This record gives sequence, C-alpha cells and structure tokens, in this order.
Amino acid sequence: MSDLEQLKKELKALGAEYAKIKTLPPEERGEFGRQMNAKKQKLLAAIERAENDLESENIIPLDIYAPTAPNQSLPRLELGTEHPLMVELDKVVDIYAAMGFDVMESRQLDNEFHMFESLNFPKDHPARDGYDTFRTAEGFIPPAHTSTMQHRALKKYRHRLDENGQIAVVIPGRVFRNEDVDATHEHTFYQCEGVLVSKDATMGQMFGVLKHFFEAYYGQELKIKTQPGYFPFTEPSAELLIEKPASLGGKGDGWLEMLGCGMIHPNVLKTAGIDPEIYHGFAWGGGIDRLAMLKYNLSDVRYFESGKLDFLEEF
Ligand code: DAH
Repeated sequence: MSDLEQLKKELKALGAEYAKIKTLPPEERGEFGRQMNAKKQKLLAAIERAENDLESENIIPLDIYAPTAPNQSLPRLELGTEHPLMVELDKVVDIYAAMGFDVMESRQLDNEFHMFESLNFPKDHPARDGYDTFRTAEGFIPPAHTSTMQHRALKKYRHRLDENGQIAVVIPGRVFRNEDVDATHEHTFYQCEGVLVSKDATMGQMFGVLKHFFEAYYGQELKIKTQPGYFPFTEPSAELLIEKPASLGGKGDGWLEMLGCGMIHPNVLKTAGIDPEIYHGFAWGGGIDRLAMLKYNLSDVRYFESGKLDFLEEF
C-alpha cells in the first residue's frame, strides 16, 4: 500500500472513531472532539504533502531544446520566419538610415489632432473624407497614413534646427483604411513616411533622395517622374511615379504611382513651432506593400495579411 493510500485509510478510520463521541459522557466530549480534530488536521496535511509528491514524480521533464527530427516520434516543429513585409520594411528603413535619416516608430492608435488638425486639414473639409478613417467607440483613430507622425517628428527633432542642423527622419508604420478590399487595396497596410526640414530644402533635393531610395531598393537605375497631387499638408504637392523596368515585368511604357510628396505646408511647420519664414521642408509617404508587390511581381496585395502559410513560406 502506498503512503497515500495508508493515510487515506487512517482518515476513514478516524471518521468511525469519531462516531464514538455519542457514547461518551457529555463532560468528556469536548476534549475528545479536540483531540480527534487535531489528528484529522495532521492527517489532511500529510495527505496533501503525499499528493504533491506524487504529482511532481509524475512530471516528465520536457527538454524544450530537443531536436525534432522527422525520424523521432515527436511532431516536426515548423520554424517560423519573419513576415515578408517586415523584411521589406527593414530594407526600406536601412536605405534611409544609410542616407542619415533618423528612424521613429509610428503607432496604431492616434487622435483627431494628429490625423487632421496638425496636418492642416480644415475643419469639415471634404479632404478628411478622402482618408476613409476608422474610429473606435472612444473616438480614437487608427491612423490612415503615417503622416499622423509628422507633427511629433517635427517637435521631437526641432532642436536640431537651433543647433544649425536639419531634421531628417523616416517613420514606418501600420495604417488602416475603411475601404473596400480588392487585389490592390487592403484595409490594413504599411507605409513609410519621410520628413526633411532645413534652411534650404527644395523639391529638387527631395526628388534626389527619392530616386536614390528607389534605385537602392530595386537595385537598378530607374526613371522617375511626377504628376500634380493634392494634400492639405503640402504645397506644392505631387505624386511620384517610377517607370516599371523590364526586369520587373514592365514593357518600358508603364509608369507606377509610388508615393505622395511635397513641400511641407507652412501651417504644418508653424503648428510644430518651426518658423516657416526661415525653414523649409519636404515630406513624402508611400506604401511598403506596393513596393514589395512590384519587387516580387505579386498580383494580390491581400496575401500579405491573409496568414496563408504556403504564400508566406515562399519568402
Ligand atoms: N499621407 C499621404 C497618403 O497616405 C501620402 C503623403 C503625401 C505623405 C504627401 C506625405 C506628403 O508626407 O508630404 O496618401
């Protein structure tokens, strides 16, 4: 008989013994009861200890570092990899960092001020509708673009201007839009924002930075061109296109819209405490998903957020 069984038997016997209390004269019952109770508590504690011992005896130590080769009886563990979009996002950031840009992180919940006011969207202006913003019940906004970070970036680094330097920062982040989903539109995607402010920033300098970026990312020379755009936070505003090269499935005649950009509107600088009479800036923002789709010749952006392992394993 195991210790535990023995103890349980004793506990049962104690129960039978306790029944004797009825046969005792009333003046002895109190003392008898106390003694029995003390024995019972002792036995219960011993049973608990014995049960705990048994439990730890039954635990088979698990070697979490054990290899799981297919010829072993353990199931084969699938090794995870980094999501392709995160891999591309790192490459994007690395290229800008090599050009001297600081990197700031975006956030996944923001507010009205950073989404609109700080970016010179007039109140009740129809341009606000163009961003198909989600809203939480509490009134927060999951950012519809990484431009929500511009104001924070300008404030964080404006001391550089006083130190005779410049603001140069990129901000990758996840963005959300309440729009219909199809092969080229997702409700959730990634963007990278760029901001540069100095005494002599120009559109020409911006196109130089962006051309260099696209050529570094695709690893080849590319032609770029612009077309007029409209953003409340830039003046003038433009859209930047790259010519789709043959190596990326182009026929030499296709232009692809890659990002929005422009000279930062004086109101945006002013709101961040930067004097637009002295300083000028340019900014841009574009999708990471789109960059990666072109690089890997993908036809459907929805794969990225689909969680399909067979797709993800291709990278
Ligand atoms: N935030 C814009 C969008 O998502 C893109 C953009 C345009 C960003 C102009 C900028 C900018 O920083 O200056 O459509």
